[in-house]
Amino acid sequence: MVGTDADAATMGQDDRIAGEPGLTHVSGHPVGSAVGKVGVTPYGYVDEEAREYVVTRPDTPTPWINYLGEGRYGGIVSNTGGGYSFDCDPRNRRVSRYRYNGIPADQPGRYVYLRDQETSTYWSVTWQPVRREPDAYECRHGAGYTRIATEHDEIASELLYFVPPGEDAPACELWVLRVRNLGGRPRRLRSFSYVELGYPDAAIDQQNLDWAQHIVSSRFEDGALLTGTLFRADATFFASSAAPLGFDSDRETFIGRCGDLRAPGVVERGEPTGSEAPRGNNIGSLCHELELAPGEERRIVYVLGIATDIAEARRAVATYRNPVAADTAFRALREGWDAYLSRFVVETPDPELNAMVDVWNQVQCRTTLHWSRFASAYETGLGRGMGTRDSAQDTLGTMHAEPERARETLTRIWRLQFLDGHTWHQFFPLTGEGTSGLAAEMPEWPQWFCDDHLWLVIAVCAYLQETGDFGYLEQRVPYEDGPAETIWDHMVRAVSFTLEHRGPHGLPRAGFADWDDTLNIDHGSGKAESVWCGMQFCRAVLDLAELTDELGRTDEAERFRGHVREMTVAVNAHAWDGAWYARAFDDEGEPIGVASETLHRINMNPQTWCVIGEVAPPERAERSLASMHEHLATEFGIALLDPPYNGGSDRVRGTSTYPPGAKENGGIFCHANAWAIVAAAMLGKGDLAHDYYRRILPLLRPDSDRYLVEPYVYCQNVCGPTHPQFGMGRNSWLTGTAAWTYVAATQWILGIRPTYRGLLVAPALPETWSGFRARRLFRGTVYEIDVERVGAGNRVALTVDGEPVDGDAVPLAEGRDRVSVRVQLGG
Ligand code: NOJ
Repeated sequence: MVGTDADAATMGQDDRIAGEPGLTHVSGHPVGSAVGKVGVTPYGYVDEEAREYVVTRPDTPTPWINYLGEGRYGGIVSNTGGGYSFDCDPRNRRVSRYRYNGIPADQPGRYVYLRDQETSTYWSVTWQPVRREPDAYECRHGAGYTRIATEHDEIASELLYFVPPGEDAPACELWVLRVRNLGGRPRRLRSFSYVELGYPDAAIDQQNLDWAQHIVSSRFEDGALLTGTLFRADATFFASSAAPLGFDSDRETFIGRCGDLRAPGVVERGEPTGSEAPRGNNIGSLCHELELAPGEERRIVYVLGIATDIAEARRAVATYRNPVAADTAFRALREGWDAYLSRFVVETPDPELNAMVDVWNQVQCRTTLHWSRFASAYETGLGRGMGTRDSAQDTLGTMHAEPERARETLTRIWRLQFLDGHTWHQFFPLTGEGTSGLAAEMPEWPQWFCDDHLWLVIAVCAYLQETGDFGYLEQRVPYEDGPAETIWDHMVRAVSFTLEHRGPHGLPRAGFADWDDTLNIDHGSGKAESVWCGMQFCRAVLDLAELTDELGRTDEAERFRGHVREMTVAVNAHAWDGAWYARAFDDEGEPIGVASETLHRINMNPQTWCVIGEVAPPERAERSLASMHEHLATEFGIALLDPPYNGGSDRVRGTSTYPPGAKENGGIFCHANAWAIVAAAMLGKGDLAHDYYRRILPLLRPDSDRYLVEPYVYCQNVCGPTHPQFGMGRNSWLTGTAAWTYVAATQWILGIRPTYRGLLVAPALPETWSGFRARRLFRGTVYEIDVERVGAGNRVALTVDGEPVDGDAVPLAEGRDRVSVRVQLGG
């Protein structure tokens, strides 16, 4: 099916990616310099011009990963080529394998070994798995692609990984290998690729070894390896642009008895064996001969993917065996990201904020929208599926750039709602199957989470403010257990669920948990309550009231405001503890997160959400935030609670399974920290908001050997002050921190917020900032915003296209392409 022309492996100059630098940048020239850069660590720096994070050493403290794909076919790739791939669903349609708990090895991955046929020495293009010391190494993670280059013995080599973009693109990824002879003598090399393939149900592939290893087999056909089973039509395919000299698809044969990936027998000997695995552990390994004259460069494009039938596989391979198609796909990928990232650009006096908001935070937001909390180096992609609350919040970070995708996501989640108003907690993207997540393990406890459905209300209102697409409210969507109704009806049922599930203090019942999955306080009593959820309810219902006002349905708006008043009274009557708000009430109606306790005396979430939910009177809002700061703030962010539990507590269960200072038990939960930024900005405290923003900013963690995780994306949690590894980051990439820090920075510190009536510009800037500039697309118009500080405070004077405008909202531009907004702040 692919390259029968043996000469195809020899590529000429015209084979180069147009406009791409040659490989010499790895050797002769700059393996970039970190001077004057942001995000500088001992392991790399941000290249702002290229919009890449450059990793300059392969031995990062943890694998520093990137994501490939647009939410259909995709996967993760580390700075040494480690990682795995899947199509649409990492559990149900897995393509390649990864060894969980494998860190620090970070194997396997998408590898190519190069072997010098004269000296028999060999190495890996991506350093792993051979780990031979390279003469030069550089990994560049960009939006949707990763390029890893090394140099050994005057041979420069590079692998570029990406997934061809577009709805209609085949479900596959491309690895573009380039090898160049930098020396003055001819060289004779062989390349051996390696990827490990399993059964597409990744959980079964792990659990039912005997079955999975009996049924998966491979065959070599027309230059491509096809791996599948006798009873399923789908198969993975692995092929190359150039006709291979040979192949292997049996792992044991490739590696050799008792061997490992560092020194596989086939590479040691330099001879592929042509093994077609009849069962066992299958791999994709293609061998190519590379004869390189001095200065000559060759290129091979590998295609790895999955197809539902053989014809589809043939089509994908035929398309990308032509390297020009690979170039075109890569260009389209870059152009797509350029367009995405151009929709909101800022220029502030804070270089790290700029780098984050303009590129990496947006890349992370889009990734979380695609994969929720499902598949990363920490989430195995085996179990949990996508999170309802997580995906709803993730839409907030992409709404400005891809509102249609947000709408699609929200619609999908509304289908998981039950007639009583609550929703499934999680779902699988391929099958749409909903689950109650961890709650299912405790059937005698509530099987719902008290916050899931309310996030959907908040997200729909954000969508409508961004787009003005009120017709969405009329879209009919079925319930999990009932016929279709409009989105509006769904939202009303969400509100009713909370109203109908209130506890003894009139606060929302906790259910299995609220936002904090580990706060499992209802053990069947039906009485435990979440104070925080009462505050979240107020935010959601205030948003609904604003929406109904906009729609001219004032009676309904008044009804909603009545619910908010009632909840606000309940919170303030029962949960105010004197200097801060309590977190919850347990089965016995006793408060949690209050000063009279010895453990968990204060929790940060009610102190931020009393502001966000507009529940606290002004003096309580100030006091709560001050208490939070006093008891919980650290140099690396704000701890979630203090003092942490130290051993199992029957009262809160999940939280107390963690050691003190870890995760929800007094760790620094970055997601919750974003709410502290929002709350501080809402109270007009620009300096404090910015200070909180910078405390958790990964680009400001040069101490990688302590922080461990990637400096270019947020991690979910940092070990708190009571933990022996205080300051260590965990669980990078898939976290609600992405969306919420983006919202916090753009909508609250910079103050650029979409509303039904126009674009609000109401910043809460640090006093020292002289201003900032921003360009934002809103409802088809580009707003060029120039904010200049003329005095202290946050008062705003606006001119729009030279005309003064009252208030702080730029009226809707109605069909204009571009609007110029000048803002004087503090006058
Ligand atoms: C991570 C979970 O994915 C998210 O849903 C939850 O809100 C936080 N942990 C806090 O428990």
